[in-house]
Amino acid sequence: MMKREQFGANFKWGVTISAFQNEGAASADGKGPSIWDTFTENIEQIKNNDRIGEASQFYTRYEDDIALARQLGLNTFRFSISWSRILPFGIGKINQSGIDYYNRVIDCCLSNGLMPFVTLYHWDLPQALEDKGGWTNRDIVEWFTNYIEICVTNFGKLVTNWIVMNEPMSFTGLGYFMGYHAPQRTGINTFLKAAHHTVLCMALGGAKIRELQPHANIGVALSCSYIQPVNQSPKNRRAAKRIEAMLNRFYLEPLLGLGYPFDVMPALSIIKSFFKDGDKQRMVFDFDFIGIQYYFRVVAKHSLTPPILFAKEIEPTTRKAKLNSMDLDVYPKGLYKLLKFYSRYPQIKELLITESGVCYPDYLVRDHVYDVRRTRYHQKMLKQVLKAQRKGININGYFIWTLVDNFEWREGFEPRFGLVHVDFETQKRTIKHSGRWLNAFLK
Ligand code: NOJ
Repeated sequence: MMKREQFGANFKWGVTISAFQNEGAASADGKGPSIWDTFTENIEQIKNNDRIGEASQFYTRYEDDIALARQLGLNTFRFSISWSRILPFGIGKINQSGIDYYNRVIDCCLSNGLMPFVTLYHWDLPQALEDKGGWTNRDIVEWFTNYIEICVTNFGKLVTNWIVMNEPMSFTGLGYFMGYHAPQRTGINTFLKAAHHTVLCMALGGAKIRELQPHANIGVALSCSYIQPVNQSPKNRRAAKRIEAMLNRFYLEPLLGLGYPFDVMPALSIIKSFFKDGDKQRMVFDFDFIGIQYYFRVVAKHSLTPPILFAKEIEPTTRKAKLNSMDLDVYPKGLYKLLKFYSRYPQIKELLITESGVCYPDYLVRDHVYDVRRTRYHQKMLKQVLKAQRKGININGYFIWTLVDNFEWREGFEPRFGLVHVDFETQKRTIKHSGRWLNAFLK
């Protein structure tokens, strides 16, 4: 049987939550609107027409929720800061109540014996900045580093673990290319411009933290997928390589000094039209760790569209796959292969799994939620982590997405990922089977 001790005494056992998905209180105490407040106003765009309302009320229930995390036996707590709670308009006047709120959250983590990992950006851009072009406006580099400076100055006394950004490919791909997420913009140029500014913000944001807090532990959290070609034909293998370049390499390699993955996607070089002199250097930062977040496998095939990518994913629903409730192909064995993939970059010093989770429809029956599938999922994923450690890969943390069921962006409240069930009518919390298993395992 797998034991906690096998992972090492310094292993970080955490959960991850995010401001928009958990806090609620969208306009409380001086908070300004974010692009996700704007987007979710129109409930037609949200699955089942769900209204976010107070989400899982972390703004007012943070003490209870953090106590729950401690009760589960964890030692690390990752949450994100809402930019527009600190700066209602993204720049300019600071909202002291926002600063006070996150200081209370940080204090609460520490008094519960949980090491805070603070994410500085988890997709909720201040609407006022989107009105000026958002991620496609190069001024964002200044806006973002100014915001980071305020955070490090105000929280740096007690916080040393920083995640500059969460899943850049998700928010730029879905929000600035596909138009599926806020702020619903589309097009290859919009995407590449936003993407380049995002890379600059990650690297220069990291450098800003280092300047203000030399002993900080700084990372980014990147989404990734295990990618397989549908068969071994050279065409399909090349297609898989291109998808891999977009999903696993695009946001990592420039930070490591390797530039964008033009090798397998030469057409991507149109991104250079958004470069300014010196950007090659500006994109690089020596991160202390790279956080990876792996949720699903992708099976790829060659395709004439979309241009540049010339590859398509074969929908998991049309092939043999184990699906979660978002119809994604759940494949724990891919994790070891990904860890191996990342361990081949000598520039990466340490890997952490900054999110790992699975959504299933959970049912509350007489005060119990029997989510054994989720329990098994985490057990399988952890086995992959152990295997990687045994092969000498420096992986030192596993953060579960997520503590309590919350608001899954455009998918609304339906996909439940939590170790703790939430009844969204009453906000009542019930620890699921998975939460109880974790607690027993960590004891
Ligand atoms: C990654 C994102 O960071 C998070 O916001 C999202 O809820 C989970 N994946 C689950 O889809």
